[in-house]
Amino acid sequence: MAVERTLSMIKPDAVAKNVIGEIYSRFEKAGLRIVASKMVQLSAEDAGKFYAVHKERPFYKDLCDFMCSGPIMAQVLEGENAIAKNREVMGATNPKEAAAGTIRADFADSIDANAVHGSDAAETAAQEIAFFFNAFELCDRP
Ligand code: PPS
Repeated sequence: MAVERTLSMIKPDAVAKNVIGEIYSRFEKAGLRIVASKMVQLSAEDAGKFYAVHKERPFYKDLCDFMCSGPIMAQVLEGENAIAKNREVMGATNPKEAAAGTIRADFADSIDANAVHGSDAAETAAQEIAFFFNAFELCDRP
C-alpha cells in the first residue's frame, strides 16, 4: 500500500470544545503521522476559495461562515492509505450516521458543525495541502 499525505482540519466547533489533543490521538492511534500543523483563523475569502468546489450547493454560504467562526487546526497526516484511513477515522459527514468510535460520532454535534475535514482523493489532497502549507513547513518523519 502506498504512503500518502492528506489534509485534515479540526473545525471551529471541535477547537472550541478543546479536543484538539484527543483528535490528534485518534490520528496517531490509527497509524497516521502529523507532518505539519498550524492554527489558522480563516477569512471569508479563504473559506470561499477552499470550498469553491461546493459553491453551487445550498449549504455553501453557511459552511463558509461556520469555517470562519473561530480558529481551525490544519494538519497534514501521512501514512499508508492515509486519505481513506483518515476518512474512516473521521466517520460519516452526518454525525448521526457516523460509526461508533469515530471522531464525528464522539465530537460532532450536527452535519453543519461536524468537527473535522479530510481530503477525499489524491488530487484534492495535493491542492488542499498546498492551500495551507509550503514545502518548508512539511517535515519528513521517521
Ligand atoms: S464529503 O465529505 O465531501 O463527501 O461530504 P459532502 O456531503 O460532499 O459535503 C461537503 C462539505 O460540506 C459539508 N456539508 C454541510 N455543511 C453545512 N450544512 C450542510 N447541510 C452540509 N452538508 C455537507 C460537509 O461537512 C463537507 O465539509 P468538509 O469540510 O469537506 O468535511
